[in-house]
Amino acid sequence: MDILISEDLQAPAIERLEKQYSVVRGPGLWKDAEGLKTALREARVVLVRNQTQVTAGLMEAAPRLLAVGRAGVGLDNIDVAAASRLGITVVAPLNANATSVAELTFGLILALARKIPQADRSTKAGQWDRKGCTGIEVAGKTLAICGFGRIGALVGKLGRAFGMKLVGFDPFLRPDSAVVRESSARLCSRLEEALGVGDFVSVHLPLTGDTRKLFDKGKFAAFKAGAFFVNTSRGAVVDEPALVEALQSGRLAGAGLDVRELEPPAVSVLESMPNVVLTPHIGAFTTEAQERTFEAVAGDVDRLLSGQPALHFVNFDRPKR
Ligand code: MLT
Repeated sequence: MDILISEDLQAPAIERLEKQYSVVRGPGLWKDAEGLKTALREARVVLVRNQTQVTAGLMEAAPRLLAVGRAGVGLDNIDVAAASRLGITVVAPLNANATSVAELTFGLILALARKIPQADRSTKAGQWDRKGCTGIEVAGKTLAICGFGRIGALVGKLGRAFGMKLVGFDPFLRPDSAVVRESSARLCSRLEEALGVGDFVSVHLPLTGDTRKLFDKGKFAAFKAGAFFVNTSRGAVVDEPALVEALQSGRLAGAGLDVRELEPPAVSVLESMPNVVLTPHIGAFTTEAQERTFEAVAGDVDRLLSGQPALHFVNFDRPKR
């Protein structure tokens, strides 16, 4: 076997790989740790999205594995350090879906500000409730961007186009870095400082040991009263019960969540809150982003399997085993 696909991945670029290589599809394998381990023993490449947990143990038990292809950006489901130690190349097209995620983020911001989901529901239910659907303008409001990487910077650009003031927090950026200067955002040295002034707070942080449940009770207490919270990064950066409490107490005016700690999530009180907009992790789900992602990752898989260097590598451009 050349390639194992352990999630439901469909794209013309994958079909082209199937014509060229021996590909095994196991769309449900990500849920079956033992089955995945067994199948991976034979594979030279494993192709995943964000559901397969590519752990050190899994890769150690895969003697033929040369590369992990991640069709997306977040690397929290891949132990990149272990892959590097084992000489396995990890490829992920890190720029491919930033625009789509940033646009969805802004969609959620506007949906919250203008109560678009409530207006849609009530109009379809035969009401014509204009007063009940009174929203707020985003122009002149402060957008706090937590994580000023590729996606955060694009969200900032959209915010500026809508006349918002920008503040940012990113532990890896200096206030004089080009991305911050170009965005005309004020970079805060402490997360709480950004949270305290944001009318809208948008999260664009990777999930790491440091960011897991970063948005907890203490952080929500630091939010400006009546702020809106938007998360299109990873659900596990939020302590969900603390978020629910902040919404129920009125500290937060609303939330837009594209991601959850458990996906698909168990039904919670969030589903019944009118001021909460929920989407099923669709940040990267646009025709354009999917095409860019799959063309890039399949192209790299093809290159690696034919002995050429990868273009979108995270650790090294050729396997070292
Ligand atoms: C990503 O990390 O690329 C996005 O969250 C989308 C995904 O994982 O499918």
